[in-house]
Amino acid sequence: MASPAAAGQVVIVGSGLIGRSWAMLFASGGFKVKLYDIEQQQVTDALENIGKEMKLLEQSGYLKGSLGAEEQLSLISACWNIQEAVEGAVHIQECVPENLELKKKIFAQLDQIIDDKVVLSSSSSCLLPSKLFAGLAHVKQCIVAHPVNPPYFVPLVELVPHPETAPTTVARTHALMQKIGQSPVRVLKEVDGFALNRLQYAVISEAWRLVEEGVVSPSDLDLVMSDGLGMRYAFIGPLETMHLNAEGMLSYCDRYGEGMKRVLKTFGPIPEFAGATVEKVNQAMCVKVPDDPEHLAARRKWRDECLMRLATLKSQMQSQ
Ligand code: NAI
Repeated sequence: MASPAAAGQVVIVGSGLIGRSWAMLFASGGFKVKLYDIEQQQVTDALENIGKEMKLLEQSGYLKGSLGAEEQLSLISACWNIQEAVEGAVHIQECVPENLELKKKIFAQLDQIIDDKVVLSSSSSCLLPSKLFAGLAHVKQCIVAHPVNPPYFVPLVELVPHPETAPTTVARTHALMQKIGQSPVRVLKEVDGFALNRLQYAVISEAWRLVEEGVVSPSDLDLVMSDGLGMRYAFIGPLETMHLNAEGMLSYCDRYGEGMKRVLKTFGPIPEFAGATVEKVNQAMCVKVPDDPEHLAARRKWRDECLMRLATLKSQMQSQ
């Protein structure tokens, strides 16, 4: 592990849910982290919250990186002056709410004060880089690095360049993500929803239609994923699944290609996500997890615990 000073300095703009996770991840990789927010209280709360979280993770053996919680915490500090924070930084990670005008305003401000070396990265879930970074003088240094919630336990990061982003910006961000233990993928050209949400929406869409058409109940639909497809998908993707489910990909397409096309032709239109089906799905979900803050928080905690243990299992399986 490099010394904290050697790893470099990262600036987080926006200290909410995602900003806090990024701060913890960068500190786990030995980076000095400057946390900035328009609301000073958010930074104060973030530091307190991160301190508690890191200690709990250390106690349970799930703290990332090779530094202890105290050392990692000492790498993270509040910053009230954005100009000072970006000086000498290697990476700036923007984590403000998903609002194009707000993000554009912040990038325009940062564009005025950054040097020609730092990478300017957005956590945006679905705003296109061509819109976010339009007209910036430092556009070559700009990229979207979209994490998945909760980023500390789900390592995927989608890297999406602006058409003018320099290849070195993509390469540097890819290397940086790997250094902090994340799993970066390159989305080679921008597309609405990037890759993850396009896949997610395809699944949600068919799940909704199956429930709407009375083919399966909402709770059984979720089981199809959690006790069926999802078991494999935690380890191998849909393409490798095809490869392994026959004598290789060629054999799979040969054997199952026609069947897949026949079924795919029966898929219905885009659901409205409204009306009686929302009531039906909501009722079923609330039987399982009532939608008050306490029950939702408890279930999220359980989900995160599952993801932590799964991450351990995945790394054990990868090293075999
Ligand atoms: P959040 O609402 O928890 O945090 C946003 C923070 O930005 C707040 O602390 C707010 O005070 C601060 N902020 C607002 N205006 C600001 C300004 N002008 N300058 C500095 N700070 C400012 O939002 P969250 O959930 O952390 O989302 C941040 C970004 O991450 C969004 O683009 C979102 O789409 C993306 N994202 C969110 C995920 C999620 O599940 N929440 C998952 C992946 C990406």
